[in-house]
Amino acid sequence: MTKISLPVNSPMLSADFTYGVATASFQIEGGAEHRLASIWDRFCATEGKIADGSNGEVACDHFNLWRQDIELIESLGVDAYRLSISWPRVITREGTLNQAGVDFYLGILDDLERKNIKAFVTLYHWDLPQHLEDNGGWLNRETAYLFRDYVDLITKAFGDRVYAYATLNEPFCSAYLGYEVGVHAPGIVGKEYGKKAAHHLLLAHGLAMQVLAKNSPDTLNGIVLNFTPCYPASNSSEDKGAAHFADDYFNQWYIKPLFDGEYPEILSQLPKAHHPDIHQGDMAIIAQPMDFLGVNYYTRAIYRADKQQDFVELPALEPRTDIGWEIYPKALTKLLVSLNEKYSLPPLYITENGAAMADELKDGSVNDLDRIDYYQSHLSAVHDAIGQGVDIRGYFAWSLMDNFEWAEGYLKRFGIVYVDYASQQRTVKASGNAYKNFISSRVAKK
Ligand code: FCB
Repeated sequence: MTKISLPVNSPMLSADFTYGVATASFQIEGGAEHRLASIWDRFCATEGKIADGSNGEVACDHFNLWRQDIELIESLGVDAYRLSISWPRVITREGTLNQAGVDFYLGILDDLERKNIKAFVTLYHWDLPQHLEDNGGWLNRETAYLFRDYVDLITKAFGDRVYAYATLNEPFCSAYLGYEVGVHAPGIVGKEYGKKAAHHLLLAHGLAMQVLAKNSPDTLNGIVLNFTPCYPASNSSEDKGAAHFADDYFNQWYIKPLFDGEYPEILSQLPKAHHPDIHQGDMAIIAQPMDFLGVNYYTRAIYRADKQQDFVELPALEPRTDIGWEIYPKALTKLLVSLNEKYSLPPLYITENGAAMADELKDGSVNDLDRIDYYQSHLSAVHDAIGQGVDIRGYFAWSLMDNFEWAEGYLKRFGIVYVDYASQQRTVKASGNAYKNFISSRVAKK
């Protein structure tokens, strides 16, 4: 496939459906010498943690190349750019603002405004200042209050330059991957830690939402969650039960407190030692009203029952992307419809969706037809969900450009723009052109 298209009457072709591209600070910025250390710097420096032994010291050198990168974003014709703020870049060890770091983002936000591109700002996309980790990180309740203080300072500094704020990106990844299985920073391992970290992250979200309501009532304020829908390996009640448990553990755990003010019922089945440390009033703080919910979707997972464990995940089925994730767009439609049935949701934005592919730069171009297919099928899946009554207002491609893919280092390419890391040359891939043409085929942009 070389083109992306949707039925002519699709609501996703109207001018008020927002299309964007997304990135995150640690994955693209570099400029590490101009900020405090984060948990990802430490993790990268630990032998064996990153597949190619790389780090984020230079990354896409966006710290120096941001002007041309924003021109690139403009050239794609998108309505919005989702970026994240590096907490260790804008804060000093004393917790005051680091003006040089703030100025870096003010430059970007002003440029976006001049170009009429909406800024969707994520306040935390995993790069916790290392000195806070030295005090326990997300296992320390105090971190939630320090996050609130940082959000208070930074939102005042940004004034009215922002269109939407997300408190956290994918608290599941921070909590489970970072503090339970240890494949992400800070690399802590232990079943007793994951839900404790998750609770403090959700508390941080709730506290930040209160600050946003005060400092920034005119922006859309919300959170970004990732979902990997859980399917049973068979129709047996055991396998269905295993998939249900996994869904509560990985997915509902992060959304139910936001809308229902309580954790899924599997809490009572978890050993006491694994429970979060819930103080009186916490759940009410977590369940603040939100203007939008960001949904990130890449793939699904299949589970079977097991005598020893709550569930066992099966290897991903084909077809798969270059990172090994099954391509299964139907699960996106089903996910959106089921969330809409379960919860009283605010408008949704698909804040990340995309694919790692084994790209090759040949004669100055990247002919990533497989990625175009992925976008086509997943945009169609979003269209189908809207057809079934889900209020979805926007879609962001992950990612603007190839970047530091966490534990995979630079080995996996998710961009619609190719990055040659040696020269820092950017080349729009066929998928980038297809996305651009698709967006410009809509009713004239406002
Ligand atoms: C998501 C992350 C994002 C990116 C994609 C591939 O979980 O939010 O930073 O790495 O996966």
